[in-house]
Amino acid sequence: MTDSLTVRDNRTGQEYEVPITDGTIKAADLGQIKGTGEDEPGLAVYDPGFVNTASCRSAVTYIDGDKGILEYRGYPIEQLAEHSNFMEVAYLLIHGSLPSKAEYDAWVHEITFHTFVHENVKSFMEGFRYDAHPMGMLMASVGALSTFYPDARNISDAENRHMQIVRMIAKMPTLGAWSFRHAQGKPFIYPDNDLSYTANFLSMLFKMSEKNFEADERLVRALDVLFILHADHEQNCSTNAVRSVGSSQVDPYSAVSAGVGALFGPLHGGANEAVLRMLRRIGGKENIPAFIEGVKNGNERLMGFGHRVYKNYDPRAKIIKKSAEDVFEVTGTNPLLDIALELEKIALEDEYFVKRKLYPNVDFYSGLIYEAFQFPPEMFTVLFAIGRTPGWLAQWLELVQDKEQKIARPKQIYTGDRTLDFVPASERWA
Ligand SMILES: CC(C)(COP(=O)(O)OP(=O)(O)OC[C@H]1O[C@@H](n2cnc3c(N)ncnc32)[C@H](O)[C@@H]1OP(=O)(O)O)[C@@H](O)C(=O)NCCC(=O)NCCS
Repeated sequence: MTDSLTVRDNRTGQEYEVPITDGTIKAADLGQIKGTGEDEPGLAVYDPGFVNTASCRSAVTYIDGDKGILEYRGYPIEQLAEHSNFMEVAYLLIHGSLPSKAEYDAWVHEITFHTFVHENVKSFMEGFRYDAHPMGMLMASVGALSTFYPDARNISDAENRHMQIVRMIAKMPTLGAWSFRHAQGKPFIYPDNDLSYTANFLSMLFKMSEKNFEADERLVRALDVLFILHADHEQNCSTNAVRSVGSSQVDPYSAVSAGVGALFGPLHGGANEAVLRMLRRIGGKENIPAFIEGVKNGNERLMGFGHRVYKNYDPRAKIIKKSAEDVFEVTGTNPLLDIALELEKIALEDEYFVKRKLYPNVDFYSGLIYEAFQFPPEMFTVLFAIGRTPGWLAQWLELVQDKEQKIARPKQIYTGDRTLDFVPASERWA
């Protein structure tokens, strides 16, 4: 058996052999297959949304969507969520292996001492309109960091790359918290470097006049777990945006701000907000059957269900369900939880969802938890972005060191007019 594909072009009768490597063929190898016309271009692959196209080799995150498996650098998400913390997971994603005690301490020290931003960033953020969406503010302020660190453009220098990675992971909570405070008309709170990454974030979000802000440890842990669960998810829409923009060799702040933009969309990071809106609209368990009928008739989608990759229960959704219980223990339960649980139960037994392999995804329960923290829905995606930052950066780092990568530039199938004769406006409008 040879690892190749024999392709017969029925237009010409000609056969071609295309090598198979790692279960893929190179799309460029199909370019040799040409039709009968002299100038006809070679065969290309049409794949909107990249549903069956590998864009890179990656050793960061493994997903088996059919089995519901998610691993960062080979470690199962369940074990990381239970026994690790976000700082260690960030190290793992960026460096590829778990840290020694000395490496971990140095990493946490580095991140902690880069949490402050330049005072000009503060005035820049204050310039936004009073009702600016925090995701828009985050996207713009991450991008703006590129102007504060022009040396970040030197992406071929490993030490320089490391510096920007540390800065970005460190400053993201500061920018995220300040986006939140701006909308509330509250003063920006500076980082407290005596606190852990996640406790400091909560302090910057919620501190008022107290000397020290001490969040409930159970809430700190729950948010830390949520960051772990969101830290990477291989080639999703925002990671693809980071890689695609990064492939032009722009600085990492600009590339990550593109990722934040992609995450802003309702089909990606915005789904948990949509879940809450949906649960509120349903209003009570008695209205679920009618709602499900509407979904099955194609009038709307059951938000928080279905995934491009997972055709099984999203492993993150299971962990989040457990975190929700821990959080509600501190904050008291959310009445929408009962609707969500019942909705899940009904949908998992309904043929429409079973047949299409639609299961709860990470967003189905995360919104409920965020709401329990008293985050407004506009903040949900900001939390996602903070968690995803190490993943984006690990993928970016891999991209810039990958000799096989090129500037991202897909092909198209042109469907427009050709060779029209231009008539000047003065004649057309005469
Ligand atoms: C995530 C999502 C965009 C994946 O989309 P996709 O891989 O392109 O899947 P498709 O849109 O092709 O869906 C396949 C089928 O399932 C149906 N479907 C998918 N998600 C559905 C949902 N949430 N509710 C109802 N039907 C759904 C589609 O209508 C389609 O049915 P059909 O074959 O009869 O046309 C999609 O499942 C979705 O919109 N889910 C809700 C939003 C969400 O929770 N996003 C967060 C993702 S983490």
